Amino acid sequence: MSTGLKNVEYGLEKIFEGAEDFLPLNGTDYIELYVGNAKQAAHYYRTAFGFQAHAYAGLETGIKDRVSYVLKQDKIRLVLTTPLTKDGFINEHLNKHGDGVRVVAIWVDDATKAWEETTSRGAKSFMEPTKEEDSNGHVVRSGIHTYGETVHIFVERKNYKGVFLPGFEKWESSYQPEPVGLKYVDHMVGNVGWNEMNVWSEFYGKVMGFTQLVSFDDKDISTDFTALMSKVMTNGNGRIKFPINEPAEGKKKSQVEEYLDFYNGPGVQHIAIATDNIIHTVTELQKRGVDFLYVPSTYYDEVLDRVGEIDEDLAPLKELGILIDRDDEGYLLQIFTKPVSDRPTLFFEIIQRKGAQSFGKGNFKALFESIEREQERRGTL
Ligand code: FE2
Repeated sequence: MSTGLKNVEYGLEKIFEGAEDFLPLNGTDYIELYVGNAKQAAHYYRTAFGFQAHAYAGLETGIKDRVSYVLKQDKIRLVLTTPLTKDGFINEHLNKHGDGVRVVAIWVDDATKAWEETTSRGAKSFMEPTKEEDSNGHVVRSGIHTYGETVHIFVERKNYKGVFLPGFEKWESSYQPEPVGLKYVDHMVGNVGWNEMNVWSEFYGKVMGFTQLVSFDDKDISTDFTALMSKVMTNGNGRIKFPINEPAEGKKKSQVEEYLDFYNGPGVQHIAIATDNIIHTVTELQKRGVDFLYVPSTYYDEVLDRVGEIDEDLAPLKELGILIDRDDEGYLLQIFTKPVSDRPTLFFEIIQRKGAQSFGKGNFKALFESIEREQERRGTL
């Protein structure tokens, strides 16, 4: 691997260098959310997050049972889909989960081979390799099931010149809010059930040839009140990173447990998006009404003792509530939105990496301790 990332569990790094990656992945292709009202959700993601109108499929394009809006910002494509009828799977998905991620689509050179390699290793097929075409060429898509009702679709688009996929038309709109500097999907986190973290990290290891990056267990990130366990799985070239969380016992219900209750099972917890100027991006997002998790000002009292010197002034980071963490390779700046729907389920992370390849575990503890310091000041601890 050329990423310099640590391989903790499988010890496959040497073998990996010499062996052919049986599932070469180019990156995230698109993320499809099933939502209750795609027209309004699209407006939210355009206005608040700076996504651009990109493609559309619905009644006007000959689709009768659903409507899909495709939004784009730099390399990120979000697809928002709403059913137009009362029955069917999308309605069941919405009823059970609320708005949430159904498809994490991955860009590949050969969707047939991706399907064969993964299903032969035990993946449950969601979609056999299927050729879809229009006047702009053809794509091949295939798919497998992963945790909960989430699916991975492999997209082969080397013979396609159209705007998104066959069946979609270009979506022209005079309403074009400025992008906010969101560049690409850095990682996507799945919440799975009690004692299922190893099941799903092994799934990504065996079925998709991923390796484990960093391990932190409940001792690392638990506090007295809340706990979770997490493993980060990555593909051979490091372009796809899937941390997997499971809840852990704490004195209070953990955030992962709350998610599982409201989502009614495993699903995508957060989508982390990279920016190369987090101060600009978060300033814009806040101006446009995106709500972020509260960070007590006490967090900043000790943060530089923990992470050392950084390039940025602390004042704007403190004002915006941006968190800082460091690992062996550098540091990172990150911030988490509040859930983007009424159920406390899916949220977004904005991340700027300055060398660090980890995921900010130092912030879990630091954040909680700073909240306790605030409580202490108020005499409510
Ligand atoms: Fe994250």
